Amino acid sequence: MRLIPLKSASQVGLWSARYIVDRINAFKPTSERPFVLGLPTGGTPLSTYKRLIELHKAGEVSFEHVVTFNMDEYIGLPEDHPESYHSFMYNNFFNHIDIRRENINILNGNAADPIAECQRYEAKIKSYGKIHLFMGGVGNDGHIAFNEPASSLSSRTRVKTLTEDTRIANSRFFGGDMNQVPKLALTVGVGTLMDAEEIMILVTGHGKALALQAAVEGSVNHMWTISTLQLHPKGIVVCDEPSTMEL
Ligand code: GLP
Repeated sequence: MRLIPLKSASQVGLWSARYIVDRINAFKPTSERPFVLGLPTGGTPLSTYKRLIELHKAGEVSFEHVVTFNMDEYIGLPEDHPESYHSFMYNNFFNHIDIRRENINILNGNAADPIAECQRYEAKIKSYGKIHLFMGGVGNDGHIAFNEPASSLSSRTRVKTLTEDTRIANSRFFGGDMNQVPKLALTVGVGTLMDAEEIMILVTGHGKALALQAAVEGSVNHMWTISTLQLHPKGIVVCDEPSTMEL
C-alpha cells in the first residue's frame, strides 16, 4: 500500500485530482478503449472534483472517453432529490466536464427489482473488463462505499442496510433530520472494489483517524472493510495530517 501523507485536506484534493488526470492522459483513451473510473460521493472528494473541473477547463484533461461507475446510491430517494448520489454527481462534477451521458453509470436506487439492478451493474462493469482506477472515501467506522462493518470481504454489488452510525454521520446532508436519511442503499461490494486495477482512498479529518489506523496498521478484517486494501497490489491512501493522529 502506498501511503501519501499530506498537510491538509485541500492538498489531498490537489494530489488526487492530478493523479487521476495523469492516469487518464497516460492511458490515451479512445471510444473503443475508454478509461474506466470508479467514483465516490461524500464530503471528502469534493475538493478533488473541484480541482478536476479546473484542470478540465484549463485543457489538461478530457473526459470524453472516460466511463464512470459510482460506488453506491440510496434506495428510495427520487433521482432528482438534492441528496441523491445522482444529484450529487451531476451537480458537483458531471455537469461541468465533457463526459458523455451514456458513459455515466450510477446504481438505480428506485429499481423495481434491486437485486436485478445489482446484477446488471456488475455485468456492465465486467463488459469493460475492469475498472482502471477506483477512487473512494472512507466512513468513520472504516466502511468503503456502503460496505458497513461485518460486510463480506468478497461481497459484490448488493443491497445493504445502513448502520445507525452511518445514518447519523450522513444526516448532516439532510438538515440533521434522521427521519429523512434512507435506511437502505445499493453498493458495490468489497470484492467489486478489489477487482479494480488500482484503488485510491482519500482520508481527511481527525474523525477518520481510527479508520486510517485500521487501514494501515490493523489486521485485514471485515469489521473495518477499508483494511482489505492491504490485500490489493495497487492500493493508495492519500491522507491529511489530522487523519494520521492514531498512526
Ligand atoms: C458515505 C459513502 C462513502 C463515503 C463515506 C464518507 O457513507 N457511501 O462512500 O466514503 O460516506 O463520507 P465523507 O467523505 O462525507 O466523510
